[in-house]
Amino acid sequence: METQNTNQKTKKTIFSGVQPSGKMTLGNYLGALKNWTKLQDDYNCYYSLVNLHAITVPQDPETLRNNTTELLAQFLACGIDPKKATIFVQSHVKEHLELMWVLNCMTYMGELSRMTQYKDKSKKSAENLNAGLFTYPVLMAADILLYQTDLVPVGDDQKQHMELARDLAMRFNNRYSETFVVPEGYYPENTARVMSLQNPEKKMSKSDDNPNGYILLADTADDTRKKIMRSVTDSLGEIRYSDDQPGLKNLINIYSAVDGRSVEEIVAEFEGKGYGDFKKSLAEVVVEDLRPVREQYDYFMKNRDYLDEIIHQGALKAESVARKTVKDVYEKTGFVTRIK
Ligand code: TYM
Repeated sequence: METQNTNQKTKKTIFSGVQPSGKMTLGNYLGALKNWTKLQDDYNCYYSLVNLHAITVPQDPETLRNNTTELLAQFLACGIDPKKATIFVQSHVKEHLELMWVLNCMTYMGELSRMTQYKDKSKKSAENLNAGLFTYPVLMAADILLYQTDLVPVGDDQKQHMELARDLAMRFNNRYSETFVVPEGYYPENTARVMSLQNPEKKMSKSDDNPNGYILLADTADDTRKKIMRSVTDSLGEIRYSDDQPGLKNLINIYSAVDGRSVEEIVAEFEGKGYGDFKKSLAEVVVEDLRPVREQYDYFMKNRDYLDEIIHQGALKAESVARKTVKDVYEKTGFVTRIK
């Protein structure tokens, strides 16, 4: 026990989260989850199912509950190990909301209105322009800062939010005294932005109207193969890694992230071959990589008691750390201590 505590202090801390808003895509997997599993051996990791973030768009309560359980099973199926990482549900640790309020009062309206994700989402859901959508990045900053996080493994759609988290940490530290670690974003080399298979100008996203644009971790092997074979490339007909061939570039990035070889090695292997051969091989690599994820997912979904126990233990651990940060923040802010 003693050794573990000492280890945890010397190890750097990682925090990241995924919204339980439907099934995970290959983009979530390659942009975040695959990295998370690699990092859990060497870092003190907190991985959260961020259901408070999910309600910034309307959610059916039963679906949200099911999505949360399914996402937890997917975390485990991807190889996140509760013995190594702390896995918890955001709403179970009320400190996220407590810190958010304090940070809200230090965030400028101008900062939030510049957030591209807010601008995009507000265009898409003009009838649901709620305050949560606007202050969403402040909650994300609170998530990160509560755990004195050093590194945040995310895709590059979160870059602007990461900047805000860093600015708020520095702002608080300057206004009061050293309180927060200033976190850094940690982005995968070639898959920080996995693009749609149908439109390589657009990010792969499960909210895409065309399901051929994304691969879900839950897709069958056949569907995965079909989606890759149908993916949009170009008429140049040559396997090269170039910005002039954005569809192919995206597929090569996916290939490299899944199979572990460099982009150069992959391009060399397919030199002189056609797109059909390349796609066929990519499809097999992706299907094989996702096979254990699908199988493990089914296994975990049948073990609900185990899932409940993981998030129970995770919440206790996360809470004990988060409590200390909020206590410190409240004191520095000037809130009277509650004695009894
Ligand atoms: P979310 O749930 O939209 O996505 C989860 C993670 O997947 C990454 N991602 C991608 N990466 C590469 N290519 C893509 N096409 C792609 N699509 C999604 C995202 O960058 C993310 O890392 N605001 C966050 C959740 C969050 C969070 C946090 C993350 C809340 N609090 C604190 C880190 C730290 C979000 O909506 O992610």
